[in-house]
Amino acid sequence: MESVIVAIDGPSGTGKSSTSKAVAAELGLSYLDTGAQYRAITWWMLTNGVDVDDPAAVATVCDKPVIASGTDPLAPTISVDGADASGPIRTRDVTSKVSAVSAVPEVRARITELQRTIAGAAEKGIVVEGRDIGTTVLPGADLKIFLTASPEARAARRSGELKGKEASDVESTREALIKRDAADSSRKTSPLAKADDAVEVDTTDLTLKQVIECVVALVEEKR
Ligand code: C5P
Repeated sequence: MESVIVAIDGPSGTGKSSTSKAVAAELGLSYLDTGAQYRAITWWMLTNGVDVDDPAAVATVCDKPVIASGTDPLAPTISVDGADASGPIRTRDVTSKVSAVSAVPEVRARITELQRTIAGAAEKGIVVEGRDIGTTVLPGADLKIFLTASPEARAARRSGELKGKEASDVESTREALIKRDAADSSRKTSPLAKADDAVEVDTTDLTLKQVIECVVALVEEKR
């Protein structure tokens, strides 16, 4: 079967990760969570005392951490300097600072290069999820999907995911999501945006299973 590159972009809470992993697993493709890479570099900055609100300070050291992503959709991994970072990158601290770090052009240039290398090495093809995959990282992707959902649906999903890990209620999650999306959409370098040739899928009233079926069908059409 031919190799296929699928870009799945959209704001937080639209079901990007669950959809991307399931589609990749079903079709035998690799999977890359680019948000995890931005979270990993943010976590490294925070643990190394870098002032993440100072873009110049972030730019100076952003090539220091060694970020590695495992691309098995059934067991994706993320490590920083050889140590597993999958837990620490999901803390509220990292979540509240990741937009500032990911807006720094030097950070984006470095992570984008890493993403292109990983996608190029995926022999059977790959599903890459993020914010700028279809517009900037892989503009030649075979299929581009842009997932959306109402802010209420997104907040409800995220609150459900966080339960038991961190105290959270739907309203504060909704406010945090809106703030992060606004920052991600308004930054100068490769903002969160739908590519002109992306297929938009509104997941507000769809179950995860329905979204997965829809994307699998769209990929099959391209193969
Ligand atoms: O997908 P996730 O919510 O884990 O992404 C965390 C953050 O990483 C986003 O809010 C955004 O600031 C950044 N990001 C990005 N470009 C991507 C993926 C994520 O700027 N392709």
